[in-house]
Amino acid sequence: MWRNFIYLIPLLGTAVVADVTDSCPGYKVSHVQQTKGTITADLTLAGSPCNVYGTDIENLKLIVEYQTDSRLHVKIYDEDEKVYQIPASVLETPSGQPQSSSNQSDLIFSYSEAPFSFAVQRRSDSETLFNSSGSNLIFESQYVRLRTSLPLNPYLYGLGEDSDSFRLEVNNYKRTLWNTGQAYLPTNGPLYGSHPFYIEMRNGRAHGVFLSNSNGMDININQTSGTSQYLEYNTIGGVLDFYFLAGPAPADVARQYASVIGTPAQQSYWTYGFHQCKYGYQDIMMAAEVVYNYSQAGIPLETMWNDIDYMDLRRTWTVDPDRFPLEKVQEFVTYLHENQQHYIVMVDPPVSINDSTSYNNGVDAGVFIQYDNGTEFLAVMWPGAVSFVDYFHPNSQNYWSGQIGSFFSDSNGIGVDGIWIDMNEPANFCGYPCIDAVDLAIQMSNPPQPPAVRTSWDPLPGFPVDFQPPGASKFRRDSTAGNMTGFPDRDLLNPPYTIGHVQPLLSTGTIWGDLSLYGGYTAYDTHNLYASQMIAHTRQGLLDRRSNERPFIISRSTFAGDGRNGGHWTGDNASWWSHYLLSIFQHMEFASIFQMPMVGSDVCGFNDDTTETLCARWAMLGAWYPFYRNHADIGANFQEFYRWPLVTDVAKKAIATRFQLMDYFYTSFYQQTLDGSPTTITPLFFQYPEDPNTLEINYQFFYGPSILVSPVTVENATNATFYLPEDTFYDFWTAEKMPETGMDVYYDNVTYMDIPVHIRGGSILPLRTNADQVNTTTQLREQDFELIIALDDNGKAKGNLYLDDGISINSTSSFMEFTYNNGQLVVNGTFGYQTNVTLQSATIYGTNDTTSPIHSLNKALNSAWKAELSSSNSTVRSG
Ligand SMILES: *[C@@H]1O[C@H](CO)[C@@H](O)[C@H](O)[C@H]1NC(C)=O
Ligand SMILES: *[C@@H]1O[C@H](CO)[C@@H](O)[C@H](O)[C@H]1NC(C)=O
Ligand SMILES: *[C@@H]1O[C@H](CO)[C@@H](O)[C@H](O)[C@H]1NC(C)=O
Ligand SMILES: *[C@@H]1O[C@H](CO)[C@@H](O)[C@H](O)[C@H]1NC(C)=O
Ligand SMILES: *[C@@H]1O[C@H](CO)[C@@H](O)[C@H](O)[C@H]1NC(C)=O
Ligand SMILES: *[C@@H]1O[C@H](CO)[C@@H](O)[C@H](O)[C@H]1NC(C)=O
Ligand SMILES: *[C@@H]1O[C@H](CO)[C@@H](O)[C@H](O)[C@H]1NC(C)=O
Ligand SMILES: *[C@@H]1O[C@H](CO)[C@@H](O)[C@H](O)[C@H]1NC(C)=O
Ligand SMILES: *[C@@H]1O[C@H](CO)[C@@H](O)[C@H](O)[C@H]1NC(C)=O
Ligand SMILES: *[C@@H]1O[C@H](CO)[C@@H](O)[C@H](O)[C@H]1NC(C)=O
Repeated sequence: MWRNFIYLIPLLGTAVVADVTDSCPGYKVSHVQQTKGTITADLTLAGSPCNVYGTDIENLKLIVEYQTDSRLHVKIYDEDEKVYQIPASVLETPSGQPQSSSNQSDLIFSYSEAPFSFAVQRRSDSETLFNSSGSNLIFESQYVRLRTSLPLNPYLYGLGEDSDSFRLEVNNYKRTLWNTGQAYLPTNGPLYGSHPFYIEMRNGRAHGVFLSNSNGMDININQTSGTSQYLEYNTIGGVLDFYFLAGPAPADVARQYASVIGTPAQQSYWTYGFHQCKYGYQDIMMAAEVVYNYSQAGIPLETMWNDIDYMDLRRTWTVDPDRFPLEKVQEFVTYLHENQQHYIVMVDPPVSINDSTSYNNGVDAGVFIQYDNGTEFLAVMWPGAVSFVDYFHPNSQNYWSGQIGSFFSDSNGIGVDGIWIDMNEPANFCGYPCIDAVDLAIQMSNPPQPPAVRTSWDPLPGFPVDFQPPGASKFRRDSTAGNMTGFPDRDLLNPPYTIGHVQPLLSTGTIWGDLSLYGGYTAYDTHNLYASQMIAHTRQGLLDRRSNERPFIISRSTFAGDGRNGGHWTGDNASWWSHYLLSIFQHMEFASIFQMPMVGSDVCGFNDDTTETLCARWAMLGAWYPFYRNHADIGANFQEFYRWPLVTDVAKKAIATRFQLMDYFYTSFYQQTLDGSPTTITPLFFQYPEDPNTLEINYQFFYGPSILVSPVTVENATNATFYLPEDTFYDFWTAEKMPETGMDVYYDNVTYMDIPVHIRGGSILPLRTNADQVNTTTQLREQDFELIIALDDNGKAKGNLYLDDGISINSTSSFMEFTYNNGQLVVNGTFGYQTNVTLQSATIYGTNDTTSPIHSLNKALNSAWKAELSSSNSTVRSG
């Protein structure tokens, strides 16, 4: 959530004219040394310094590593190693130990000596993927510029977080990376996260470029006189640390990127259930009422969430004693757990200076950010004046784990099942210089008056006596030279090069850039990593609390690599049709490009009031999000699915379908955690890279590898036009084989209860039976399986099923591979997980031969489904 507030606007320096960089001399190359797998060289400033946005750094080093046949590492950094580099404690990317060589790798590095420039070419098709020769390298204390030329109108994807478009605009376009919380997800500005990674599609092939740099930056994509094209990095610090990934398939790029930033964390089975939240559930009774109402409506609610309402005066690590008394929250959590449901609350990063326990513990541990004179840096957030944890401090993990361990203690705290972290860009309501945070908080009425304490409510049959109306009961990295923590003598508040951030000063709305963090880092260089550190610390804190459970964390702000530790929701969207559509490409971006597949957008919209029909469409679309949560702002009307009969019906069907496919998706997600294979939410071009029609499809996606979802894209319409690539497809709902593909298809029958979904031929899907009969994923896990065998044109199909206990880190598991060919189903794999669930039947799509030999499937999983199909237990459906 966010709110608008007014900053003092200091006077800015005069604007810099566009071509000041023309006088920059570039660098010249010397002392080139080559081994089989590396090139190193010195780069020396080739003329008088231009000092346009800081001081030119005279001596640089170049290192090129042929790390694998498809991954090339190119790094340009200052000889003295003073310039800040992303610390390995936050993100460790591979360096050294090249396993390939210049005559073996699919990526060929070449360079020009004076002025220095470099190019990267793909050996197999001679395409030049990157070429910096169009302009001189500029490497200054507060500005680094590198430009690559590209083919005209390139197909670029990534460089988020953004709300602009899926395929990046090609002309006069600026993408600014500076983590910023902004309600309503405005276009053309920085959003919550920074992912300096793009994929380019060229002639059916893909490659990727990752710039491992956490400083604020503008990436300009532009054309000169409509004839030549470039992409230009303009960072306000850091070094040029590039990873070039050869592809050639988009899925290869995804795996290659995962090999650099890490693979996504595996999530518990229950996290794929349906979640409900709202800012404005004013007391624990109201949370209970929502749970009760979902149950009455017969809509399976897996997890109940509370926003900052639960806190005492908005202070994280406290509960409101009147509205959320601890004993009652504990009783509620016990009730939820007894009913196989879950509970999650929000945690904000700063600590209120008025919460003596948490605050004093932080002071004692020395973990709060201070000015250099030792005075603590105070900011303003929801609870008023706050201090921020310096997550670089060696005591910060103990402090954070201690907070989590005591406040969320399973024995005497609130036994939450996950943590939701917000405002971690991080946000500060007090603009620079924030003379008096305490006074400003009072002026801003932070914290606001809590709502009146409710004294009556309707009975909630089935809930503990405490939840009945009053009267019934009582209420209760390696370096040789410098240490890469930051170049000295910079203007860290008002850097000479102004990136496209939205505030008057770079630091406005967040932590001042000139504040020193532990180890000599500055907030200026590490701003975009604050959330990464909070996510990592929260993950460790949850592991310290429940050591064998996969931590579930949903974060607003993110940086490259955070999928290793958590998931993301796309923040404060609005109840607008355009944001229903926006969510589709945001998910494709996070899941398949940024390797953060546990992603979801607030279903029905967060800001503003939703409508019945928008919420109905969104309830259905959300069932195909990895993270499926309905959430609304405090100022918005209530929008739980049960509030409208139509949305109730839609939600029941949507959740039942999601449940049916739960293990299919759980398996797909698991596969992405292994090596980054993009098997969760993918754009069409990932699966059909050679079909140019797929390159601009923003509003259709694959859910797992085999299911194509084509939502209604026109508000209030009951029709859908969608593209089917040339392949075999079956309508998921009717099992009909699509008569024609490789074209747009029009459905005029898409009622609010419907969404066009197709199964790709050649797939075997494991479905849970009785998915519409269960209330929770725990019950779902007891249901047997049936298979859909959707044949391709050669009469073949294959698929997978991964099973484990759904929650433990060290769970035993089974991984099965189903192959269907010539009327025979073969199941092989590893069978380590014990279960009594069986495979009941198989349905074949795409065969007319109802007499084909179908062999028995009816065996327990643990005795291996190496079974053959048997006609008695199987059905054959003709296409
Ligand atoms: C694109 O180039 C034009 C012409 O040089 C320039 O006016 C414009 O500012 C550039 N846009 C960006 C985003 O760099
Ligand atoms: C699911 O909840 C409903 C009440 O909403 C209850 O009638 C039904 O028995 C429950 N089903 C199971 C399988 O527990
Ligand atoms: C320390 O520095 C801050 C920021 O410049 C200032 O506001 C504060 O008054 C200083 N504290 C002392 C004790 O001088
Ligand atoms: C880096 O060097 C500075 C200055 O010598 C020192 O204060 C800081 O602790 C060092 N940081 C690390 C991470 O070694
Ligand atoms: C769609 O229908 C809703 C009523 O459910 C209405 O409020 C909205 O304006 C309509 N939108 C359009 C684009 O017609
Ligand atoms: C789909 O429905 C919308 C809204 O009713 C309508 O404007 C549009 O023309 C329809 N599309 C087609 C292709 O008929
Ligand atoms: C919707 O219409 C399409 C095209 O006419 C048809 O193939 C499909 O079976 C229909 N779907 C349903 C659910 O009736
Ligand atoms: C997992 O670890 C727990 C202890 O945390 C142990 O009790 C259990 O046996 C282990 N399970 C497996 C399958 O290794
Ligand atoms: C199943 O068998 C095929 C070929 O026999 C093999 O390639 C594949 O790795 C096996 N799959 C598993 C999961 O063991
Ligand atoms: C399977 O069924 C047997 C017999 O009913 C029971 O003892 C065992 O606990 C069950 N195993 C699982 C994993 O549910």
